[in-house]
Amino acid sequence: MDNNLFIALEGIDGSGKSTQAKLLARKLEETGHKVYLTFEPTNGMVGSVLRNILKGNIKADERTIATLFLADRMDHLLNEDSGLVKKISEGYTVITDRYYFSSYAYHGTHMDMDWVIACNKMCADILRPDLNIFIDVAPEISMQRISANRQSTELYETLDNLKNVRAKYMEAFRKLGDAETVVSINGNQEIEAIAADISALVSKQTKEKRRL
Ligand code: TMP
Repeated sequence: MDNNLFIALEGIDGSGKSTQAKLLARKLEETGHKVYLTFEPTNGMVGSVLRNILKGNIKADERTIATLFLADRMDHLLNEDSGLVKKISEGYTVITDRYYFSSYAYHGTHMDMDWVIACNKMCADILRPDLNIFIDVAPEISMQRISANRQSTELYETLDNLKNVRAKYMEAFRKLGDAETVVSINGNQEIEAIAADISALVSKQTKEKRRL
């Protein structure tokens, strides 16, 4: 039985997901895994439109944004050359920096979350993460990191919004607790401590999958 995993890293903006995704990829490669590290929004055709919306270069209704994220995710999964379904079938452990829980949290802040979940059901049916890792950081700390590291902020990067997004993540985890494997990690720690927690979690999950 294959023991390659599909892992989604989740968290509010400034939670350190991208750093942790890279550290996890390196760690897994060192232990012999074939790793494919990826992210949403993607660099694909819809992903580049989304980046422009996030930067404020294009205006769009929140419902349009939510459905563009869905289209981007479908291409992320099904693209003939680089789609995640293909990568998983080739034996890669896939780490994605954001997946559908980001949609539930970010768009659930602006519209009915159940609608967002229903729209994304096909993605869950195509590829459900073995592990959703939520890096839980206080929104105040995230905003400090964003302001310290960047000249400008993106669409959703305000303290009030990040507080709402964090609350929506919690709501989504409660709603989908039976169908999804979600683990929350304390993201207010040092980078190395967070990386160690994630690494321990993933090796436990790998052993469990091997036993199946
Ligand atoms: P990033 O900062 O992790 O690159 O993500 C870019 C932004 O995209 C971030 O503010 C969260 C947002 N986003 C959504 O609003 N919906 C989604 O489905 C995803 C994947 C990201």
